[in-house]
Amino acid sequence: MSRALKLAISGKGGVGKSTLAAALAGLMARGGRRVLAVDADPAVSLATALGISAEAQKRIVPIAEQKALIEQRTGAKVKQYGQIFRLNPEVADIAEICGYPHEGILLLVLGAVQQGGSGCACPESVLLRALVQDLVLHKDEALVLDLEAGVEHLGRATARGVDTMLVVVEPGQASIDCARRIFEMARQIGIRDVRAVANKIANVEDEQFVRSALEGLAVAGMIPYCAQVRTADRNGRGVLEHSSEQAKAAFASILAAVERP
Ligand SMILES: Nc1ncnc2c1ncn2[C@@H]1O[C@H](COP(=O)(O)OP(=O)(O)O)[C@@H](O)[C@H]1O
Ligand SMILES: [Mg+2]
Repeated sequence: MSRALKLAISGKGGVGKSTLAAALAGLMARGGRRVLAVDADPAVSLATALGISAEAQKRIVPIAEQKALIEQRTGAKVKQYGQIFRLNPEVADIAEICGYPHEGILLLVLGAVQQGGSGCACPESVLLRALVQDLVLHKDEALVLDLEAGVEHLGRATARGVDTMLVVVEPGQASIDCARRIFEMARQIGIRDVRAVANKIANVEDEQFVRSALEGLAVAGMIPYCAQVRTADRNGRGVLEHSSEQAKAAFASILAAVERP
């Protein structure tokens, strides 16, 4: 039995959020968990990382495009601002209605939500917030949230209510700076367990760089640079089935670290 887990993955664009989200979701599903994976990045890529073919992806309708559903649940007309709408839309069945099942994982694609500022209350954001916060998980169930790049969404507090946030970095200063801001904002919205994951570590210098750059922050693990992962992405293949043994071992060790209460 594994405890219920709400996990969010954040970080700068291109660092490997979707890669990590897909790998962890896949490992959890193989381990017998029921996994709800939510792609909340407008630059959708989780479906591909999960190994869902381009052909099959055509059948996935992003929630943001299901205007009728959003309007029904939030009581607001999409793209009409400044109105009052129900702040707690019913979310229990949204996963059932919109989810795309794939190898033990139910995938929800949020799609292009309105880019609002701090505290944005557009219907799509409200729906995502409600989905994360109000979703009641049972033992052996997990929510994996692949977040939008950067820190904007933290201003909208869409990830409030997750148990653990992993912040992915690569061996470059920009991703580290972004991660430090995410750590701060994640704590501000009340996420207690925030940990960094260093990705694309190609050599000892990379490792030393991220270790010293992440000084003082909790680190859940490091993932080696893996040519197969990149090739899989180019060919539209799933991460887990096409990564090196070392990368797979790294994903498994990160999952074990996250599952440790
Ligand atoms: N460990 C790794 N080794 C090599 N390439 C990687 C690794 N992790 C991710 N990538 C590649 O980096 C690119 C961005 O990864 P992705 O997961 O889509 O990032 P994000 O979701 O943060 O934008 C993809 O081409 C992916 O295959
Ligand atoms: Mg992504």
